[in-house]
Amino acid sequence: MQSVKIGVLGLGTVGSGTVNVLSRNLQEITGRAGRDIEITHAAVRDLTKETACSTEGISLTDDAMAVVNNPDIQVIVELIGGTGVALDLVTKAIENGKHVVTANKALIALHGNELFAKAQEMGVTIAFEAAVAGGIPIIKAMREGLAANSIEWLAGIINGTGNFILTEMRDKERDFADVLAEAQALGYAEADPTFDVEGIDAAHKLTIMASIAFGIPLQFDKAYTEGISKIAQEDVKYAAELGYRIKHLGIAKKTEQGVELRVHPTMIPHRRLIANVDGVMNAVLVQGDAVGPTLYYGAGAGSEATASAVIADIVDIVRAVTTDPENRVPHLAFQPDALSDTPILPVSEVVTSYYLRVSTEDKPGVLADITRILGEQGISIEAILQKQPEEQGGIVPVIMLTQEVVEKNMDAAIAQIEALETVKDSVMRIRMESLG
Ligand code: HSE
Repeated sequence: MQSVKIGVLGLGTVGSGTVNVLSRNLQEITGRAGRDIEITHAAVRDLTKETACSTEGISLTDDAMAVVNNPDIQVIVELIGGTGVALDLVTKAIENGKHVVTANKALIALHGNELFAKAQEMGVTIAFEAAVAGGIPIIKAMREGLAANSIEWLAGIINGTGNFILTEMRDKERDFADVLAEAQALGYAEADPTFDVEGIDAAHKLTIMASIAFGIPLQFDKAYTEGISKIAQEDVKYAAELGYRIKHLGIAKKTEQGVELRVHPTMIPHRRLIANVDGVMNAVLVQGDAVGPTLYYGAGAGSEATASAVIADIVDIVRAVTTDPENRVPHLAFQPDALSDTPILPVSEVVTSYYLRVSTEDKPGVLADITRILGEQGISIEAILQKQPEEQGGIVPVIMLTQEVVEKNMDAAIAQIEALETVKDSVMRIRMESLG
């Protein structure tokens, strides 16, 4: 039986990991795939730069398009990232009738709809397990393992850098900037770390998971994205006092009105398993109507962890290479003609409970004004905590937990509270989820 020939685009962290794991476990991987798998070509940006893997037997070039146009190669593994040159290369690979494996979340979240349609037309597969939560096989779990379920919601810690920052802030009371610098040094952060801390990377991954969960086209532009850079040390502390932890969650929820698609700091009860996912680790909690909650945990980034997902995709493709393209697992779990146009809700229509921190003057009647405003907007207070006045200026932090309310009512209430003369500074709000 002829071997399946692979061309890898990019031999950086994940590319090198892929070469290393494939060569180390080749016998087992071949036994699973049923065919020999051979990386014959690889493209790198700089041929003089040393790679973290052996390139023996691999033909190296700095011309990625030449690899994509090589007629002997059946599978292109795109590990360049971004939506520039990677989009051109993947598009060309599909046009050339090659299967594609990619770890590129931005590419799938932003261009997946067109790429999948083109792949369908050409009878090839685009596999993207490594694009979401690194080594955790969450795409396969949702697309195949949970195929019986109507998925109700999912919530994930899907950015290791952000989770590392929040964990260090909580455990070691470290500053945001200091921890970010360490995450960058560890090689977890994106090339542009604002993608991590502002939630863009997580929104890419959430967009992909939501489409697979609910059978909707990819709609990254409709995801609500809020980062963690405004979380203060005192919020971390008050959350702990109240029995919660702050996690940067990606949440996708099906409601009667549509789909909520949102990434933001979220307070969750500290007893939940997912609240205890710390450091750079990722986890995704999926609620199916039949199975109930299922939790997937593991390394969301890193060389060999991500390579694990890349190679699993290669094995899937190798196994299916001779099957009828119409009968392969659909890219977004649902057959293309079964995707629905369920709307993505704007964040103003999202319903959650809230943590509020209001900095007020220490004067009679201040609390009454705040609770009156909340009451007028139909917002019930669940708990209230007034801290000692801060030493300078007599400013008192008032912490409130509310019951569930539609976000537009909370927006209106916060605007009125911030307009009070006795309220100093903007109101800090953190959405809460019970995840029960
Ligand atoms: N920057 C990402 C993270 C890498 O920190 O999780 C994996 O996508």
